[in-house]
Order: sequence, then C-alpha cells, then structure tokens
Amino acid sequence: MKDAFDRIWDLALPYQDQRDDPGHAEITLHYAKTLVESENGNPDVVLPAIILHDVGYSQLTKERRLKVFDRDLKDEERRVVQREHEEAGVELARQILEGMSYPADLTGEILEVISQHDTRKGFISRNEGLVRDADKLWRFSRRGFDTGLKRRPGEAPRMIERLQSDLEKPDYIYSETARRMAREELDARRAERYIDQPLRFFMDRLASKSPEPGGGSVAALVGALGAALVSMVANLTLEKEKYVAVQAQIKALLEESETLRTDMQDLMQKDTEAYRALSEVYRMNRDTEGERAGRNARLQDALKKACEVPLEIGAKSLGVARLAQRAAEIGNVAAVSDAGVAVLLARACAEAAALNVKINLNKIKDVGYSRETWARMQDVLVGVSNLEAAVIELTYKKLATGMA
Ligand SMILES: [Fe+2]
Ligand SMILES: [Fe+2]
Repeated sequence: MKDAFDRIWDLALPYQDQRDDPGHAEITLHYAKTLVESENGNPDVVLPAIILHDVGYSQLTKERRLKVFDRDLKDEERRVVQREHEEAGVELARQILEGMSYPADLTGEILEVISQHDTRKGFISRNEGLVRDADKLWRFSRRGFDTGLKRRPGEAPRMIERLQSDLEKPDYIYSETARRMAREELDARRAERYIDQPLRFFMDRLASKSPEPGGGSVAALVGALGAALVSMVANLTLEKEKYVAVQAQIKALLEESETLRTDMQDLMQKDTEAYRALSEVYRMNRDTEGERAGRNARLQDALKKACEVPLEIGAKSLGVARLAQRAAEIGNVAAVSDAGVAVLLARACAEAAALNVKINLNKIKDVGYSRETWARMQDVLVGVSNLEAAVIELTYKKLATGMA
C-alpha cells in the first residue's frame, strides 16, 4: 500500500495547503502515521483520508477559503464555508481514488470521513477519530501555531489559552495518544514564551548575538518590573490598620498595576514577533522590478507594525509612572523607595521604547505617519519625565523626614 499512498500524495499535492498554511498536509500526515501506529487505526483508510481531507479548499475562491479566519464571521457562516470545502473535497478525493482504482470499500470509508471532518459532532469510528485528531494537532504544532500567529500577531497568550480550553473539552480529541501529544505540544508552545521561561534563559538569549529578544523586549520587561513594584507597594498597604482610609484606592491601584504588568509581559513577546515579521520581509527576493516593488510595499507595512509595538510599550510606561506616583503618595511609606524605583523603571521603559520607535520611523517613507507617531512618542516622554521628577522628589522627601 505504501506505493498507493505516495501516489495519492502526488496526485493531491497541487490542491494542498491552500489557506496560507504551508505544511498542513505534511504535518497532519506525520501525526496520522503516529496515531495509526499507537491507536491501532487502519492505515489504508486513515492515511489517504488525512492526505485528501482539505483538498476541497482548492476549489473555493481565495477570498472564500480565507473567510474561515475572519474574526467577525458568524458561526453559521463559517459552517457554510466549511461544508463547501468538505463537499468539494469528497468530489476531488473520489476522482483521485477511483482514478487509481483504490479498493471501493476503503474509498467509501475515506469519503465518509472527509465528508464532515470539520463539522461532524461526535466521532463515527476509530479511523475517523484518528483523522480528525491528526488534523486538530496541527493547531498545536509549531508550524500551525506560527501560522495562526501570523493572522493574529501578538495573540500567542490568547491562542495558548484557547488551545488549552479546547483540549479540556471532553469531545474535542478522540484518542488518548493525540491528547497526550497535544498536551506536549502545548507545553512546548508555552515554553517558547520568554515570560514563562527561567530568567536565565531570557538573559542568555538576550546576551547572545541573536537579534531577538532585543531592546524592545527589554523596554517591555523593564515596564513590567515597574508595574510589579507598584503591585508590591499596594500589597504591602492592603489590610494595614494605618492605611484603612485608602483601602479602596489601593485595591484599585493593585488591579491597574497588575493589568499593566500582564500587558507589558505580553508586549515582550509581541515585540519579538513584530521583529520576526520584519526580518521575514527583509529576506524576500529583490531580483526583479516586480519583486522589489512587492518587497518595498510589504516592508513599509512591516515597519509600521514594528513601530506600533514600542509605541504601545511607551504609552503603557506612562500608565506605570502614574501608578508609581499614586503608590508613593498613598502607599505604605515603608515601601516608598520601591515606588521610586518603579518610576525610574517607567522612565527607562519610555526612553527605550522611543529609541525603538525612532529606528523604525527612520525607514518609513510616509512622512505624515512619521511626524504624527513621533509627536505621540514625545508627549509620552515629556509626561513620564515630569512624573519621574515629581515622584523621586516625593520619595526622597518621605525618606528624609523619617516617615519610612
Ligand atoms: Fe478541513
Ligand atoms: Fe485540515
């Protein structure tokens, strides 16, 4: 049968990976082989079915097949597109299998599996369950995850959460092997986020010649550290007799500082993702006039995106500085020096973000955009710098009067 699989693969190849998802066919086939082995599936059904399951997308217009990724699409509409690729897939798979005289009973089972592989509720057989498991594992794989991330830059944490909650649904995965593999892949995706790694991992990678993480991620990390210090001051003030009058404000402060901390932690990652997207464009061919024009257009887009992340980091640093001020004013005086450190970190974060905005702005040809973006950044810098001066003065005053 091995030859038959190769032949099916070759015949299906022109119709594969039609949704900007290179590697989908290959990776799902790889998973299917593992699952057939360890879960005792029938390779003569499972392997052709997984190879052919998504060929139907090739029969839809590009706009139509990419519609399933549209965030605003209603569930029923998504189902309609899914049904279209399932039906077209059955037709195409039938032509391929009958054309090569694949055994009729197996062909029947394969087509049955393909006919509702994305829309069927529940599983109809072991073979069917294994095919759908292999298809789902794609989302957990490195390539599948990165493909998703390209459509939603910066949403890695949310994607990980969604995968985790899908995995916990009792009817999402059919086999134990697939469940275990999905769990392992998910752990690996988590480990790829710096914030979830040991500090030494981040430091070593930062010190290495790898261009990411770089100054942008560090700006966000420093901002997150500032927010964390504000949280610490707030936590040291909560439920303290001496500060009973400000408890409500402290609770609000803590909530805001923790939100900012999470945002900054996410921005650490977002910055590396924007950087990766930019370097991908830099690697594009520029041999012909057409290639150069395409590359330049993409480059200008990617540069703007690479500006947005440090700009957001800068804007949030202003938030951290404001919270540091409140912490210095109403927080536990014994921890006032921490509020002072927090504002210094907010300032470093803002200045570092500004440098990263500037380096990208220098290459942007849209003068209006550059001017407006830089003006926004300048407002942030002035705001943070004023806050820094005020909070440091207040911190020293409280320290000098022995209030601490
Ligand atoms: Fe599909
Ligand atoms: Fe698929």
